[in-house]
Amino acid sequence: MIKIAIVGTGGMANAHANEFKKIKGCQLVAACDVVRKQAEDFAAKHGIPAVYGDFGKLLAETDCDAVSNVTPDAFHASLSLKAIAAGRHVLCEKPLAVNYADARKMADAARRKGVINMVNFSYRNSSAIHKAHKMVAAGEIGRVMHVEASYLQGWLVGRHWGDWKTGPGWLWRLSKAHGSKGVLGDIGVHIVDFATYPVGDVKTVNCRLKTFPKVPGNRLGEYRLDANDSAVLTVEFAGGAIGTIHTTRWATGQPNSLRLRIYGDKGAIIVDLDKDWGALDVCLGKDVHTNTWKRVSTGKTPNMYQRFITSIRTGKNDQPDFARGAAIQKILDACFVSDKKSRPVRM
Ligand SMILES: NC(=O)c1ccc[n+]([C@@H]2O[C@H](COP(=O)([O-])OP(=O)(O)OC[C@H]3O[C@@H](n4cnc5c(N)ncnc54)[C@H](O)[C@@H]3O)[C@@H](O)[C@H]2O)c1
Repeated sequence: MIKIAIVGTGGMANAHANEFKKIKGCQLVAACDVVRKQAEDFAAKHGIPAVYGDFGKLLAETDCDAVSNVTPDAFHASLSLKAIAAGRHVLCEKPLAVNYADARKMADAARRKGVINMVNFSYRNSSAIHKAHKMVAAGEIGRVMHVEASYLQGWLVGRHWGDWKTGPGWLWRLSKAHGSKGVLGDIGVHIVDFATYPVGDVKTVNCRLKTFPKVPGNRLGEYRLDANDSAVLTVEFAGGAIGTIHTTRWATGQPNSLRLRIYGDKGAIIVDLDKDWGALDVCLGKDVHTNTWKRVSTGKTPNMYQRFITSIRTGKNDQPDFARGAAIQKILDACFVSDKKSRPVRM
């Protein structure tokens, strides 16, 4: 039996609990939140026996094998480092940290301690992205020339996920002082992973970030609304391709739209998660002359929670691990430098 503790029992923790509960031989043993009532309600909902308001106490008193860190971004590094020091395997939410230095520290600590470490880039749950990765690696679309990737959300306009003005779960995402790196850190991190997983490393990045005024004075209570909410990156990949990666919370009418288009000199691939997580569209061979696209079914892939548990069982750390999380973080850090200095940054 693999025993899991969850720290941070807000919205996303429910996905962690629900998925771990589905895995045979896996047991949720403890829940922790600085808002103790939140942890109590969460534990009752998911049938978790132990509740803590203090993570150090949880680590000292429970015999959990692993920790799922689902706290806001600002706490990923400190709490994951505590769990690693206590010899626990860690699945940490994205972004791995709020800067590369912290993310690197986490990756190094996990490696030194020999614990399984994974970052929850949950769009790796799409089998289509793994197929795209394999096709590019096998040269099926030839030399990659051009890439277009976008991750669009519209919750600053639409109320489909509730009213952001009244929910702390949304407000911390809009405020630098609360550890947010804006849309770039929140979902940009996903699309940078999604694009670079098949296409490869980024060589140079040029980034423009924008924070639009949202309410009078741009402040709601303790939350100063100063984190970026639109990001546009132009990148050059190590393999030579160039591309755009962009993300926003102002995509009115788009609840959660993620798409990647990869164009090579022999073919092209489109992964569109709005359409299908288990299929991609390809234009290959003779079809490039008639612009004919064919849908390729890609079956299923184990999700991040399954990969994490399998890694613990086998002792073989699956991807994306903390080193990968740190590599993505390095690109995000470069984006902030690029935006500030209004120039491209070489990685
Ligand atoms: N992978 C994905 O697709 C995905 C989706 C949503 C959110 N997330 C990530 O999950 C994390 C949590 O997001 P959320 O939407 O659940 O946020 P949330 O605000 O709903 O929940 C966070 C919880 O953590 C608690 N908390 C804060 N500091 C803590 C601490 N030091 N110790 C223990 N508990 C603490 C808060 O009280 C709150 O209950 C974020 O890092 C976010 O980026 C990932």
